[in-house]
Amino acid sequence: MQTSIPVLDVTAIRAAFPALAQQVHGRPLVYLDNAATSQKPRQVIDAIRSYYERDNANVHRGVHELSERATTLYEGGRETVRAFINAASTREIVFTRNATESINLVARAWGDAHVRAGDEVLITAMEHHSNIVPWQMLCERQGAVLRVAPMSDAGELLMDEFPRLITPRTKLIAAVQMSNALGTINPVAEIVEVGHREGATVLIDGSQAAYHMPVDVAALGADFYVFTGHKLYGPTGIGVLYGRESVLDAMPPFLGGGDMIASVTFERSTWNELPYKFEAGTPNIEGAVGLGAAMRYVTSIGFDAITAHERALLEYATPRLLDVPGLRLIGTAPRKASILSFVMDGIHPHDIGTIVDRRGIAIRTGHHCAQPVMDRLGIPATARASLAMYNTTEEIDALVAALHDVRALMG
Ligand SMILES: Cc1ncc(COP(=O)(O)O)c(C=O)c1O
Repeated sequence: MQTSIPVLDVTAIRAAFPALAQQVHGRPLVYLDNAATSQKPRQVIDAIRSYYERDNANVHRGVHELSERATTLYEGGRETVRAFINAASTREIVFTRNATESINLVARAWGDAHVRAGDEVLITAMEHHSNIVPWQMLCERQGAVLRVAPMSDAGELLMDEFPRLITPRTKLIAAVQMSNALGTINPVAEIVEVGHREGATVLIDGSQAAYHMPVDVAALGADFYVFTGHKLYGPTGIGVLYGRESVLDAMPPFLGGGDMIASVTFERSTWNELPYKFEAGTPNIEGAVGLGAAMRYVTSIGFDAITAHERALLEYATPRLLDVPGLRLIGTAPRKASILSFVMDGIHPHDIGTIVDRRGIAIRTGHHCAQPVMDRLGIPATARASLAMYNTTEEIDALVAALHDVRALMG
């Protein structure tokens, strides 16, 4: 029996995002830079404004009314995150600044304790710099070796080779769920399974995946899952580290200071319980409030409808982009989502970005913080249009028309 896919009311969704209603260079804004950061709905803006207008105080410390309200809102944000990714407990949800900080936390606190000289860390060829550099730094500190699982020319992980790269010395596997440069969706459940079979700890970077598809950390079984709030329609400056409770419990703290301690004397300090052990100092309270609001908004729409809409947009856009003379798509893995990275013969991606910007269209150009992906594919940069739930086929038409103009202008 076929189940029907709920249809997205894109008009209503767009109405919730004030920034989308503006003109840029005299044209309606076409925002196609969502993989870098998404626009924010009223629900998020209002939640943050209301927090500052009514409830602002420091958390976990005061007995006064405002402090209790701020604490309730902050911890409410954590519970929303827990439910959103189906974690077993809020003890497993650590708030950080962003995905980058989440990964650095694991590299420092877990990595320094577990990775020794001669050990190996395995990443993939399509990682964002934030899932490369902290591991490089860890390997340098510990004398360990960084290994890289290869991908095909289409941007697909070579899963036949993946298990062969795991050795008894592989302590950690860090892999992206959805590539920001290519759109590839990796078989992360399989990666977790083969990693665990060989005794490795597994971290999944869900920064791109978490706003395009449902995340279920309980089903996935990874030891760590990280993502960043600002791509998920939430504010900047808030990120999430999910860690399995037993794994987080055994880890030493990352940063020291207020809130992360149980007791302090000049001789020694003891650590607070999870997750506070990893949240030193005054946290980003408005960030947790805003991220919670963003997740409730996304949940109210539902990933069935979001995923179906974004898939339809990708299917609409792909042949139309390929119709532009001399345009080549970068990242054509069979399983991909919401990202159209491309190059055009004889035209630098920066020129493409600048020309389409004059038509009100925001795309990104460059290496997308994934220089090794560019090196692997033998290109310096791409232009990238990245889709979100509020984008429309009319916006794709505007992009395609602008790209035909680019071709006409640049020859
Ligand atoms: C796949 C991926 N991982 C990690 C990050 C890092 O996110 P942040 O800069 O918010 O830490 C990004 C951001 O573009 C990303 O796309």
